[in-house]
Amino acid sequence: MTAGPDVPGLVADARAAIGAAATTEEIRQVAVAVTGKKSPLAEASRALGSLDAEARRELGRHLHEARAEVEALLEAKRSEIRFDELSAELAASRLDLTEYVPGSVAGPVARGHLHLVSQTRDALEDVFVGMGFDVAEGPEIETDWYNFGALNIPPAHPARGMWDTFYLDLGEPETTLLRTHTSPVQIHLMERAVLDGNLPVHAVMPGRCYRRDTPDARHLAVFHQIEGLVVDRGITFADLAGTIETFTTAYFGPDIHSRLRPAYFPFTEPSAEFEVTCTICRGEGCRTCSQTGWIELGGCGMVDPAVFASVGIDADDWTGFAFGFGIDRCAQMRHQIADMRALIENDIRFLRQF
Ligand code: PHE
Repeated sequence: MTAGPDVPGLVADARAAIGAAATTEEIRQVAVAVTGKKSPLAEASRALGSLDAEARRELGRHLHEARAEVEALLEAKRSEIRFDELSAELAASRLDLTEYVPGSVAGPVARGHLHLVSQTRDALEDVFVGMGFDVAEGPEIETDWYNFGALNIPPAHPARGMWDTFYLDLGEPETTLLRTHTSPVQIHLMERAVLDGNLPVHAVMPGRCYRRDTPDARHLAVFHQIEGLVVDRGITFADLAGTIETFTTAYFGPDIHSRLRPAYFPFTEPSAEFEVTCTICRGEGCRTCSQTGWIELGGCGMVDPAVFASVGIDADDWTGFAFGFGIDRCAQMRHQIADMRALIENDIRFLRQF
């Protein structure tokens, strides 16, 4: 009888090879070498056929145990490697917050700065202040009247669907809500101007707004708008178009322009959507602008006489225009931010770029 295979030797060799593996790729190669078709274990199994029944049973059992042991060693090594690799990944992506702790061991305290949305709001305000506008603000919690009714959107009007929102339960059903746009601030300003007898109004009104939108790359459920309102004598649509164009080139740069397209808003008549040259392709046409070369920024129009009526302004004496657009959207377009959700995730690595 020839000497049988050295089973303990096979296991010892396999153990050494497994012990030396340090990466997922290495352990994969070792697994093939120690348990694959060309492994010494497989060779030894092939020898079984030439043995008599008694010897075959004996060696078969040893080989079976050897294979189970080698498999177990492989598995243990795989999870050890996986753990080490994950730990290394974690260590590499670790964020050192001690830098932000006052008086920390990390040395001088790193100074924070305004969030990109606040910076954008400030920059937009600057542009409009330079054009002669005042800056005003209004409440984020509104009544149905300010958010809808006074803006010529009566209860059950289908246009309410464009501004579906969150209602607050303050006793009476569906009368208090989170404002869906900054347009209600127009109403507050006009009411005040009428009370104080100090028309005209030239103001921009930035602030936070809410919609029941599901957040995606271009929408957030909590976002920011800036509203504009001019009420004066002899204001025409040309004043509106000129204001929008002046703002666009001042904020985005001289090669970015605006255009108005007919639209519908209950509180302006006529109404328009305003679009600006796509800041990604500069008007050539690309995926972001659906090959049109233009990106929609907001809505605008001449103040509807019904809105003047609801605040007691004589529409025969006064005319005006209004506009409203997204501050977050402006930041996104100016800085080419692919996904707007980055603005609210508070990842300091994103925020410190601006
Ligand atoms: N409030 C409108 C909106 O949120 C935009 C708008 C403002 C349209 C002012 C016309 C005039 O969609």
